[in-house]
Amino acid sequence: MRSDQPGADGLHPLLAGRYSPTAFDPSAAVDDHALALLLEAARWAPSAGNSQPWGFLTTRPGEPEHARVLRHLAPSSTRWATGAGLLVVTLTRRHVGDPLFAYSEFADYDLGQAVAHLTLQAQAMGLAARQFRAFDLDGLTAELRPSPGWEIVSMVAVGRAAGLPAGPRTRRTVTDLRAAPWAPPA
Ligand SMILES: Cc1cc2nc3c(=O)[nH]c(=O)nc-3n(C[C@H](O)[C@H](O)[C@H](O)COP(=O)(O)O)c2cc1C
Repeated sequence: MRSDQPGADGLHPLLAGRYSPTAFDPSAAVDDHALALLLEAARWAPSAGNSQPWGFLTTRPGEPEHARVLRHLAPSSTRWATGAGLLVVTLTRRHVGDPLFAYSEFADYDLGQAVAHLTLQAQAMGLAARQFRAFDLDGLTAELRPSPGWEIVSMVAVGRAAGLPAGPRTRRTVTDLRAAPWAPPA
């Protein structure tokens, strides 16, 4: 666990210690119980109007979809995703079908929260996650053929991290988060 980020004092260890690994231990399997808990965490995320506009395809080494998903990854993500015990393809459904809430402008936002929940649950279980978009979206969509209305957004590699990040994690300052959206006083 990393807790050496400046300003992280007092931050919950799950948040302070989380990072996106660029190497996974290929010998560390994600078992059925762990997989169920990860999806359970995603399931309980908040969403606009409780629309829950998320969907997931999960696959682990040796399972039929694993090779079908892997072949659409970019070389950059293939390097580390191949060793992950679990790959998750995330999908969103922007037309959520509720009579009061037919189209959700928050669908991707909600999916992101569900993935954040999954990521922190992984961290709590001694696993780590790297979200990524370095794959051929059209190719993966043609391969997996999601149902009408569902769109692939991202992927997540989950497993036991092998080593720490190469360099320090960096972030904008809290001051900048609050100031950047606003024009300076005239
Ligand atoms: C939506 C999204 C897409 C990302 N896509 C990639 C990617 O294609 N390749 C990659 O190596 N990392 C990707 N990342 C990981 C980010 O680079 C990483 O989260 C960021 O550098 C911060 O590092 P940290 O998660 O360790 O704090 C992505 C993360 C998110 C949330």
